[in-house]
Amino acid sequence: MNKDANVIIDKVGRDLYILRYNDTDTKYFEALWEIPEGVTYNAYLLIEDGTAILFDTWKKGLDSEFVNALNSIIDIRELKYIVIHHTEPDHSGIIKTLYEKNPQITILGSSMANKLIRSFYGINPRFKAVSDGEVLTIGDYKLTFIHIPWLHWPDTIATYISPINTLITCDVFGAYSIPKSVIIDDIPEDYIVSMRKYFTNIIGFYRDNVIKNLDKVLSITNNKIEVIAPSHGAVLRGNAVGRAIDVYREFALKIPRDSKIVIVYSSMYGFIDSIMNYITQVLNNWGFRISVYRFTDKERSNIGDLIGDVNNAFGIVLGISTYDTEPFPLMDYIIELLIRKLRGGKPILIITDYGWGDVVPKHVKTRLEKAGFTVIDTVSINGQPTEREFGRILGVLQNLKNFK
Ligand code: FEO
Repeated sequence: MNKDANVIIDKVGRDLYILRYNDTDTKYFEALWEIPEGVTYNAYLLIEDGTAILFDTWKKGLDSEFVNALNSIIDIRELKYIVIHHTEPDHSGIIKTLYEKNPQITILGSSMANKLIRSFYGINPRFKAVSDGEVLTIGDYKLTFIHIPWLHWPDTIATYISPINTLITCDVFGAYSIPKSVIIDDIPEDYIVSMRKYFTNIIGFYRDNVIKNLDKVLSITNNKIEVIAPSHGAVLRGNAVGRAIDVYREFALKIPRDSKIVIVYSSMYGFIDSIMNYITQVLNNWGFRISVYRFTDKERSNIGDLIGDVNNAFGIVLGISTYDTEPFPLMDYIIELLIRKLRGGKPILIITDYGWGDVVPKHVKTRLEKAGFTVIDTVSINGQPTEREFGRILGVLQNLKNFK
């Protein structure tokens, strides 16, 4: 396959290029998240007064495609600096090859990035650790490096380039999918879903660091950002800038203003199916927006989509079958991801179904409460629910409804 066909080179400023790779091969991002929608890796290149400075690279393994793309703009021997905003190998993956082709390169990044580069790639390049707020002037351009730790790793920095008021952010403001346009001026709703999925899957665990880093960036840049250039997805410009900042604030909330309820359940033989159909109907009648994710003998939902969707939901209903005296394994895994990526906050209603042993509810309730969720109630059903049990479920749904 000619992977060079997946490369896009374009300009996002007079002297600022984007080198974008459309990755449609990776099925599981981070070997974990299903991404049938694909993902892009975006690097940026600023050329000013004969000085070339590269911001990030692409995923490890795309070396020849990256070198070809870069060579189509400059001779690699002209590259003076590479800024590594974040060392995860979907962004730093080509450093070793670039260093081998041009050992004169100076790498700029946080001091942690310095350590990580050496351990990941076994190279010993010239490295300058940039301090928080440090400025590098290249011709007419002023580059301000801003430390934004934990977005996504502790090593992370952003670069603000003035006077073009462009903020290069790596994972922050990134999204899954292969956007048709390199630059967007407005963010369509389906793209916000892609941003939220990426945020929750990747940055969700570190969500407590979002607002303070966002405020810090806005303060340092005097709220003048005109372009946001992330390392995944589209470059954001115009109306898209303010909208992205607003939705990021919303993403970081543990209990959002949304009225959506996400229902997630496993059903091995259909008992929980009937309960969840009833719950869906009741919540719909009450005016809640509902998303349903099922794990049955006929269907297996995309867990990455689920975790992204649940991020901004007001509440969650879990339907868990009992398996080997434990929660059904896929639900166990989903509960672990909810704990890690949401970090508590939301109300959760737990419905379990069992055959010969009612062993799950306490186990799950304790785990979720310990993680900071509010467990509205647990309802345990033995096989097929009775009329009386449907009545009990209606009662606990009222408690979920009244939680706000
Ligand atoms: Fe896109 Fe944390 O790497």
